[in-house]
Amino acid sequence: MTEVLDRPVSGDDRDRMFATTPGLDVDLSVPLGPLTLANPVMPASGCFGPELGPLLPVRELGAVVTKTLFAQRRSGNPSHRLTESALGMLNSVGIPSPGTSRFVHDVLPRYREFGVPVIASVGGLSVAEYWQVTEELAGVDCAALEVNVSCPNLEHGGLSIGADPAAVEDVVAGVAARTPLPLIVKLTPGVTDIGEIARAAERAGATAVTVSNTFPAMAVDVTTRRAVLGNGTGGLSGPAVKPLALRLVWQAAAAVDIPVIGCGGISSARDVVEFLIAGATAVQVGTATFTRPYAMAEIVRDLPGQCAGLGVGAVHELIATLRA
Ligand SMILES: Cc1cc2nc3c(=O)[nH]c(=O)nc-3n(C[C@H](O)[C@H](O)[C@H](O)COP(=O)(O)O)c2cc1C
Repeated sequence: MTEVLDRPVSGDDRDRMFATTPGLDVDLSVPLGPLTLANPVMPASGCFGPELGPLLPVRELGAVVTKTLFAQRRSGNPSHRLTESALGMLNSVGIPSPGTSRFVHDVLPRYREFGVPVIASVGGLSVAEYWQVTEELAGVDCAALEVNVSCPNLEHGGLSIGADPAAVEDVVAGVAARTPLPLIVKLTPGVTDIGEIARAAERAGATAVTVSNTFPAMAVDVTTRRAVLGNGTGGLSGPAVKPLALRLVWQAAAAVDIPVIGCGGISSARDVVEFLIAGATAVQVGTATFTRPYAMAEIVRDLPGQCAGLGVGAVHELIATLRA
């Protein structure tokens, strides 16, 4: 039953709203290389910021992932940057960034206050920029880096590095040489064989891969006969992409020995279970947070019930259990 409050939501209200059903003793922890996450649920990069802290018990999440960071301050793409589509949303935000220095001093400490592992997302418009950001993050208190190889790469005429296995291997090997932190590589879905790209990341030293970023898409305004998004095209996310992302996760998990983090259209604990069965070890939630800011907390609350319903006492028992 939905409860309507006539006062601001307090910490106690949140604890009550997201409390799991008593009596369900399910182990939600998952291994991610050298890390053990308390549960498999974390935000997708760019879809969560410290300002959402008052709306959900962030300390209950497995980790938090920052917005992708560039070396210099950037303002992103022209408006419109967001538009709705059937069961999803298109964005061409273009990754605005405060630059590494402001991120380290002003932004990162706010993520760290949540007391869960912080994964910093690293971007670059050139190979050298990925390496520069990694060097500038040396010594900061993060649990891992997520290398977003879906950024448009200016040296490749705007094509993402993530579409070329050799380029992925080059970028990730260079990042690995510059940090002792576990490396997650976030793949782009716009490729013929996601397994080939995942293997390139694994060869270069990735601890895990995230599958995947948004799907290339566009929307047209018939009255103006212009593209709706100021950038012309953008990325599709939300429930519309869930079956596409599930297939990519299944393919990537079959291709590599490192863990796969599933991402794309996840909005419920049931969705998480589907991704785990298909081969994911953990998951990221993006667009669901825009309609239900507390969605991730609901998912964590509902996971034990989903596991118990399937007769498993530990969430990791579900990973890669798809039957032929
Ligand atoms: C508004 C918006 C901003 C995003 N910004 C980033 C970003 O900075 N870095 C990144 O790797 N992915 C970014 N993404 C992609 C998401 O992290 C995620 O991969 C994608 O939205 C698919 O998951 P979802 O369907 O749960 O949203 C962004 C997505 C949205 C909708």
